[in-house]
Amino acid sequence: MTLIPEEIFKPSVRLPKLFSRSVAAHELQGPARLVNLHPSEAACIPAAAEKRRAEFSTGRACARLALADVGFADFPILMGERRSPVWPDALVGSITHADGYCGAVVARRDCYRGIGVDAERLNRLKPEAERLICTEEERVWLSKLEGDERILYATTLFSAKEAFYKCQFALTRGWLGFREVQVEFDGAQFEIRLIVPGKLPELDSEVYVGRFLVEENHVFTGIAIEA
Ligand SMILES: CC(C)(COP(=O)(O)OP(=O)(O)OC[C@H]1O[C@@H](n2cnc3c(N)ncnc32)[C@H](O)[C@@H]1OP(=O)(O)O)[C@@H](O)C(=O)NCCC(=O)NCCS
Repeated sequence: MTLIPEEIFKPSVRLPKLFSRSVAAHELQGPARLVNLHPSEAACIPAAAEKRRAEFSTGRACARLALADVGFADFPILMGERRSPVWPDALVGSITHADGYCGAVVARRDCYRGIGVDAERLNRLKPEAERLICTEEERVWLSKLEGDERILYATTLFSAKEAFYKCQFALTRGWLGFREVQVEFDGAQFEIRLIVPGKLPELDSEVYVGRFLVEENHVFTGIAIEA
């Protein structure tokens, strides 16, 4: 595998659509590639296999370019607690990689206290997964959908929960399981409702609203907590 230059990454048009306020975002459509890492970033994944190195370095490249857009050029993004990326103090951000896609967003902390983005390849979620990621109410709702629509919404629901987990982590540093939040869709928006209010005291609302969009082979979800 050869190292590739950062020019192949593009400013993302789709990821900013997931947020109501200004975010910087870059992406790579296609398989993850091996990109130069800052030595301190490489030290975060010392024994990683090639596939993981490619995924990690592609995500870092997207994130570094997004950071450069908001004035933080060449900022190494280290790995913090529970794998979370460490951003400059003034910013929040999020990275996602899915089969055939990688992207990152960053925003000013005085706009958002937390931000999360997630991408999932469509038609990959196995029906059995619903049992692990859905609450009883969500399963009942999904069971009324059929075929491709059911898979699409189950995948989006999964992605929305992963995006929210990344988003809330900036504030709470805490764990929330898949069945501790419940998703409801409303057009191109989704609501995340905390089923165990008070579990993470830093989350002072019971409901958070995010957006999703489906393009080509992926669903993209984004959610942020306003400052
Ligand atoms: C953290 C998690 C959401 C990431 O999911 P994933 O399938 O690896 O998804 P993605 O590829 O889209 O995202 C990976 C990126 O998320 C980021 N990430 C990982 N852990 C994170 C955390 N605790 N906080 C914020 N971002 C995190 C990293 O940047 C990671 O990429 P990197 O390791 O190359 O830096 C998932 O592994 C997990 O632990 N989920 C369980 C908790 C959950 O989702 N609960 C749902 C209810 S809120």
